[in-house]
Amino acid sequence: MASNWNPESWTAKEARHLPSYPDAAALDRVTETLTNFPPLVFAGEARALKADLAEVAQGRGFLLQGGDCAESFAEFHPNNIRDTFRVLLQMAVVLTFAGKQPVVKVGRMAGQFAKPRSSPVEVQGDLELPSYLGDNINGIDFTAESRIPDPQRLLQAYSQSAATLNLLRAFSTGGYANLRQVHQWTLDFMGRSPWADRFAEVSNRIGEALDFMQACGIDPETVPQLQGTSFYTSHEALHLRYEQAMTRQDSLTGDWYDTSAHMLWIGDRTRFEGSAHVEFLRGVGNPVGFKCGPSLAPDELLRQLDLLNPAREAGRITLISRFGDDKVEAGLAPLVRAVKREGHPVVWSCDPMHGNVIKAESGYKTRPFDRILNEVRGFFAVHRAEGTHAGGIHIEMTGQDVTECVGGAVAISDSALADRYHTHCDPRLNAAQSIELAFLLADMLNQEAVERAQRAA
Ligand code: PEP
Ligand code: CO
Repeated sequence: MASNWNPESWTAKEARHLPSYPDAAALDRVTETLTNFPPLVFAGEARALKADLAEVAQGRGFLLQGGDCAESFAEFHPNNIRDTFRVLLQMAVVLTFAGKQPVVKVGRMAGQFAKPRSSPVEVQGDLELPSYLGDNINGIDFTAESRIPDPQRLLQAYSQSAATLNLLRAFSTGGYANLRQVHQWTLDFMGRSPWADRFAEVSNRIGEALDFMQACGIDPETVPQLQGTSFYTSHEALHLRYEQAMTRQDSLTGDWYDTSAHMLWIGDRTRFEGSAHVEFLRGVGNPVGFKCGPSLAPDELLRQLDLLNPAREAGRITLISRFGDDKVEAGLAPLVRAVKREGHPVVWSCDPMHGNVIKAESGYKTRPFDRILNEVRGFFAVHRAEGTHAGGIHIEMTGQDVTECVGGAVAISDSALADRYHTHCDPRLNAAQSIELAFLLADMLNQEAVERAQRAA
């Protein structure tokens, strides 16, 4: 267990991006209530994810992490949960079959509400109001009243997370994610995309493989792995009062776990030295993500790794790089080299979203698909050069047919952004763009495997 740590030791450190509530007593009552609510996940599940990630850290497997930038109360609907889950599973099928890697699936779902914002205020016309901080804190409507942080929203976020997680568990183990079924899912949202044909081809080949296995006596009835899949949840552990209230001591091991999700990550704005967020996550046993942006120096990263993972446990830390397509090669290489030199076992994952936001001429915040892809290519190039494993992808996506990121095979133009721009925060890849990215990733993973085999020969 971490030394000199307890669930509230973070309060002695510098905490950035935490909301300030006008009624502190009301917040205390809510966190007290949450303390007595059931945990959303069990410590054993977090340990299972850590074991899966340990495999990835050792070069065996790939982490697929994705979902909304910010979940919202307004978009809370079983169909939205189903569609995002479905696209993540379809991406995993492509990555497993075409990329020949086991895929660890983690949703940015069931708790991804709180947002760090670049400015504490938002100005529209002559009016300046506090920024929107996520549905678990305040409202997105641009009125003074709606922007006041309201602790009751934490209870609604908890209940939405519990219901979302319940459905995800039902989907992943209750038959919906049976491999027989998954490969038969149609991709009506792919429209004219050439990738629809590639997916059909992959599906047919999986179907043939399953027929063959069935003829040999291996089918979902006899092999439980074919009946369902493991699916984990994650979010940025930003709202520390909420995370603290969800933190419990595991009766089996005596260790502390943040039971709000299987995996928690620290954002690029809260991963600085001396940060309350780092202090909090240092003491929980969950797998922890750590965002690495352009301002992170290699020495600083190593010190933070020593703090967060003193026992150097594989699977404990996932480093999520988010540089921007023009900065990734120069910025990532020194970090990868330093981490490798010091022997820290980490999963390297690529977030090609957060360094590639631009304002389109139409005024919408967007991310060009080409730049997203370029950052992924740069990420793979660095790992190829350093002899390390490109271990994962972290994306903002949705199963809905939104128009938020420009480009892709069924090109979304700047003028089309207005058609279905629904995000509560950053622009997301739509279903077709997500599948397209999975195929391109599978090619890169294959290339990595070929080169690794050549080096070994
Ligand atoms: C995010 O993942 O939504 C986010 C805010 O990322 P970052 O901390 O990398 O900017
Ligand atoms: Co975001």
